[in-house]
Amino acid sequence: MMDWTDRHCRYFLRGFSADVLLYTEMITAAAILRGDRARLLAFDPEEHPLALQLGGNEPRELAGAARAGEEAGYDEINLNCGCPSERVASGAFGACLMQDPARVAECVAAMRAVVRIPVTVKMRIGVVTAAGRDVHEAVADFSARDFEALHDFVQRLQVAGCQVAIVHARKAVLGGLSPKDNREIPPLRYDVVRRLKQAFTSLPVVVNGGLREPRPVLDALAWCDGVMLGREAYHRPFVLAELQQALHPGTAALPTRAALIDRMASYAAREIAAGGRLAPITRHMLGLYNGEPGARDYRRALSEGARTPGAGPELLRLAIPAAA
Ligand SMILES: Cc1cc2nc3c(=O)[nH]c(=O)nc-3n(C[C@H](O)[C@H](O)[C@H](O)COP(=O)(O)O)c2cc1C
Repeated sequence: MMDWTDRHCRYFLRGFSADVLLYTEMITAAAILRGDRARLLAFDPEEHPLALQLGGNEPRELAGAARAGEEAGYDEINLNCGCPSERVASGAFGACLMQDPARVAECVAAMRAVVRIPVTVKMRIGVVTAAGRDVHEAVADFSARDFEALHDFVQRLQVAGCQVAIVHARKAVLGGLSPKDNREIPPLRYDVVRRLKQAFTSLPVVVNGGLREPRPVLDALAWCDGVMLGREAYHRPFVLAELQQALHPGTAALPTRAALIDRMASYAAREIAAGGRLAPITRHMLGLYNGEPGARDYRRALSEGARTPGAGPELLRLAIPAAA
């Protein structure tokens, strides 16, 4: 998730579940080809399994970035066709690409031609352009024509070699909603993703949007091939441990929060020894005790403590709430 996640966040999240597939935030193909590639693609081996999400609309550029991702050791390349941000739309990629299925198919084919790891696509159930009062009408229903457009998009992608469709079960609104509103105002339509899965029995379909608890995740897994969690995994990462256990009952016990803190203290010590700082690591850890006694004290101790000059990894253990 752009502006939220990074390699420190992924290292932290890996502690909750050995099996969850982690994704990078969207990184543009152009940045990888012409920017600081080593820094952009860096990750810790513990982050595996790990997918690189690319933004772009140029088949040659995306192929070059996908190859760089495979060489760097990523396990999957994912193309973003779901981000409705103005910044992204003005570069003509993200969600607006759903309006140009032929181009996306070319992009997928170009990436498939140069990598052996899976190439996947993240999308919305549809894209509309609307502003003001028209927004609500534009997202209120999902017509037969909308489904045809989604079906055509996915079919072209599958023919081009896309191996998994990850579908955020909302329309994206271009032009009239902020990125935040675009994740909240268009209604969730799991039924549309379910119909899509029924139409594409041989293509793995992953559903995304609004999933926050193990029960609805297990319900979704009865009809689709996977789920993707965004905000809940960030704000209450313990949900990943709960899911790991719900999906593999009788295997490892839930990790303790204290053990997760110890793991991160060792990580922070290594990062600081290599020239890094504590605050960029601890900022991802504020949700560790959410829903538990002492959550507020923990958040305060961690965020205030990390800003203190010279703060070191010992802060993490000191922040463990007395009530825990
Ligand atoms: C701050 C923020 C940044 C995001 N950045 C990305 C991104 O880089 N790539 C992407 O595919 N989705 C991005 N998303 C969307 C999420 O991946 C997800 O599709 C959306 O939040 C709905 O799922 P959720 O209800 O589980 O959060 C972002 C979401 C947020 C809140």
